[in-house]
Amino acid sequence: MSLLQVENVAKSFFQRGNELKIFSDVSFTVEPGELLLISGRSGTGKSTLLNLLGGLERVSAGRIVFNDRVITDLSMSELAELRANGIGMIFQNFNLIPGWSALENVEAVLMHRGISQSERLQRATAILTELGLGDRLHNLPAELSVGQQQRVAIARTLVNDPAMILADEPTGDVDPETADEILHLLLPRIKSGRTAMIVASHGLFNPALATRTASLKDGKLHL
Ligand SMILES: Nc1ncnc2c1ncn2[C@@H]1O[C@H](COP(=O)(O)OP(=O)(O)OP(=O)(O)O)[C@@H](O)[C@H]1O
Ligand SMILES: [Mg+2]
Repeated sequence: MSLLQVENVAKSFFQRGNELKIFSDVSFTVEPGELLLISGRSGTGKSTLLNLLGGLERVSAGRIVFNDRVITDLSMSELAELRANGIGMIFQNFNLIPGWSALENVEAVLMHRGISQSERLQRATAILTELGLGDRLHNLPAELSVGQQQRVAIARTLVNDPAMILADEPTGDVDPETADEILHLLLPRIKSGRTAMIVASHGLFNPALATRTASLKDGKLHL
């Protein structure tokens, strides 16, 4: 059984009675240690596909199985639980809480999980320090550069040690050198087989880093 199995997934949006078909018959599997790059022009549905995999959107047809669980059958609260444990998401716009420090943004992910505050702070501090933000723990997102905000978002994802990371344009808004640095923080976890990563990008992500590439075009995923 693969870590992730996507079976004949389709997604349409309905607007004022009109069906907008984004894609259909999308099938693929992902194993631990893989970095799958999904490319495709703007609007082809890359973010939509990641949102389906992370359970933020519902499929229109098909089935998604993650770690032997049919996630397309789970309730919204079970999906939220899954995102807090097995699946980490890095969003196009980071989604940091503006009024919280870097440390608070990361620590919050570990709340409601029976972990003491001292352990939460220790784990959040450790991961932020690993990502080079040890001297920025108490700064608000607005006081951080875009690249630093991105690293806080990555820390928030990694602090839970997810089995699968879904990353939407993870290096989209930073210069190539910073992008490279960010990737070198993520790649060892993938290469060691600790996690798998699916990256959606409209062309900025270096395909040579991927173990497999796919592209969304004309409503189909081409593997
Ligand atoms: N909630 C929604 N309701 C209606 N249409 C939507 C919704 N979300 C996305 N869409 C439409 O689905 C299509 C795919 O959007 P999506 O954001 O997945 O594209 P993308 O490939 O990630 O693009 P980009 O490279 O610009 O990020 C677009 O036409 C978009 O307008
Ligand atoms: Mg997108």
